[in-house]
Amino acid sequence: MTYEFILAEKPGHGVGLIRLNRPKALNALSPDLMAELGAALKAFDADPEVGCILLTGNERAFAAGADIKAMAHAGAVEMLKNDLISVWETIHHITKPVIAAVSGFCLGGGCELAMSCDLIVASESAQFGQPEINLGIIPGFGGTQRLTHAIGKGLAMEMVLADRRLSAEEAQAYGLVNHIFPVETYLDEATKLAAKIAGQAPLAVRLAKEAVNKAFELSLREGLQHERRLFQMLFATADQKEGMAAFVAKRPAHWTGQ
Ligand code: CAA
Repeated sequence: MTYEFILAEKPGHGVGLIRLNRPKALNALSPDLMAELGAALKAFDADPEVGCILLTGNERAFAAGADIKAMAHAGAVEMLKNDLISVWETIHHITKPVIAAVSGFCLGGGCELAMSCDLIVASESAQFGQPEINLGIIPGFGGTQRLTHAIGKGLAMEMVLADRRLSAEEAQAYGLVNHIFPVETYLDEATKLAAKIAGQAPLAVRLAKEAVNKAFELSLREGLQHERRLFQMLFATADQKEGMAAFVAKRPAHWTGQ
């Protein structure tokens, strides 16, 4: 499928690569772009050749936020009726891991989109922020919630109230970012990480992602119970038999996703 505001490709090794592609607008997340992103995410989630999804922008901008020009004249009733933000929720229903490869501006909805991914690989130039307060609004796609879970209340407050930006180094120190690489190599490194994940047993990967995400929603007791059920369920898979047989036979495992 061809898109206008994103590029989707399969560079091999089980990776599904999506590039946000509105460079002149610093990849501002317009409703049309978000609709295409939702469609591409769903297509890769359903594609048996894809084991891990990589979401990126370009060197200058991952995304500078929701498209301000597209919503500048909107009223509350229009925002409510059209519910432009609900398509953004698609990423939360994707069962395969999604890695954000972030360089340059990662602001507002861009930061929220990156935080909706499962891991973040950053370039040295990445800059994270929630500058909505400068526009007379607040984050609308989870910024106040995900940021607070990720980096704690004090710093989240400063970012949301005073447009405090985080450098890549700071974001890594606060646990938001997994790895930092030079601008020239961050995408290759993120692709390697995606390929590594895509090379694991697909059902175990899927349930591992589900289990970790439940830690944000359930009490510790409920989360532990949920994890145990998923763990037990994996003993019904051919990949569990294969993985353990391969270990015992000292040979590589061959996953079938069954
Ligand atoms: N929406 C629409 N267009 C945007 C945009 C956005 N979020 N961010 C940048 N652009 C456009 C600019 O209007 C400009 O377009 P023109 O050439 O047609 O004028 C182009 O991208 C390049 O931007 P700048 O000239 O401003 O580039 P700069 O290097 O001087 O500044 C920047 C870069 C600091 C990122 C600045 O563009 C900026 O502050 N952007 C807005 C960031 C922001 O406030 N994001 C939050 C949006 S609201 C939101 O996301 C709500 C939510 O939670 C869902």
